[in-house]
Amino acid sequence: MRIGVPAETAALETRVAVTPETAKKLVAQGHTVLVQAGAGASSGAPDEAYRAVGAEIVDAATALGADLVLKVRGPSDAELAQMKSGSTLVGMLNPFDAEGLQRLAAAGLTAFALEAVPRTTRAQSMDVLSSQANIAGYKAVMLAANHYQRLFPMLMTAAGTIKAARVVVLGVGVAGLQAIATAKRLGAVIEASDVRPAVKEQVESLGAKFIDVPYETDEERECAQGVGGYARPMPPSWLERQKVEVAKRVAQADVVISTALIPGRPAPTLVTEDMVRSMKPGSVIVDLAAGRGPIGPHGQPGGNCPLTVPDQVVTVHGVTIVGHTNLPALVAADASALYARNVLDFLKLIVTREGQLQLNLDDDIVAACLVAHGGEVRRKP
Ligand code: NAI
Repeated sequence: MRIGVPAETAALETRVAVTPETAKKLVAQGHTVLVQAGAGASSGAPDEAYRAVGAEIVDAATALGADLVLKVRGPSDAELAQMKSGSTLVGMLNPFDAEGLQRLAAAGLTAFALEAVPRTTRAQSMDVLSSQANIAGYKAVMLAANHYQRLFPMLMTAAGTIKAARVVVLGVGVAGLQAIATAKRLGAVIEASDVRPAVKEQVESLGAKFIDVPYETDEERECAQGVGGYARPMPPSWLERQKVEVAKRVAQADVVISTALIPGRPAPTLVTEDMVRSMKPGSVIVDLAAGRGPIGPHGQPGGNCPLTVPDQVVTVHGVTIVGHTNLPALVAADASALYARNVLDFLKLIVTREGQLQLNLDDDIVAACLVAHGGEVRRKP
């Protein structure tokens, strides 16, 4: 089969869907791998590395015109226009973007959105949200350390003692856990909050303190269980109590890393402007929900903090707020390596040993990821 690997065109996107490592495997399986010239350049994979494993270097139209197109982000209109009706697309296509899915369907594509992979053991090796969130959690701490004017570890020196940084992590999924582990390695003192009770033990096992907000009603307890591993919106009663507890910690914090998301909904507001005002000058917030929260006072979607500006680093009330919307792209080589392996594993479900595409909707992973087929959107967001 002809497999196309276009260069990504979305702003600030540096990743690539197929690395020389996975291209080699696809070539070994008998496929013709068509990599757009320069597709891997920003993730440390020059054209030469692809050629060396048997891939062909082609132009954009040839890569996009393949039978199976592997991408990181959903195609732009210009890219879509170069894709063949009846071809198959695999990527992070945003399954909650109804309009975007409609465009894919209208172009006659069979499209698989990898973000929709279920949170099951069998699907773990294809779970792009996990592989990328893990990297984002690490990079968030690196950025925080970079913007913070002090050190993370406690240091006892001849010139006196330096106190360890206090880090508060809000939302402890994949990214939050990695942020805790990374900040811990740097010597910070960490507290963390999440709605899901299962998280408490994980937080404590990493040497951080869990900010306990007990559930007081059956509704609170039920919501906190989430659905499919993800959080559900919590009742206002619980959120109010969480806010009080979080506000106390944030006022003491040197660094806040917020990662709280609810699939298909705006990210919850956890760090209000009043909380930012209460923080010490020189403190840092890294908001991984940047661009996914309600519209902030600057007229753009904020994150877990309304003052976050997407893709900007701003200083408000003396606090530096880091709003990168695509942290994995700042670690392009490893982010691509993991993403490309996720993609390769997913292909095992939709490509037969003989190299033909198959659509087995009895497979729960395939059925969950299929967002467009036969001119129709297959998954109503
Ligand atoms: P996510 O990126 O959707 O959300 C991040 C975190 O924010 C979640 O832990 C969520 O509970 C939390 N959150 C949402 N609203 C909040 C609020 N108001 N206050 C505080 N925290 C809030 O979640 P992610 O990282 O994609 O995964 C969540 C969980 O899914 C993981 O921790 C894990 O337990 C499970 N999972 C299971 C897998 C498997 O079994 N194969 C694979 C990956 C994750």
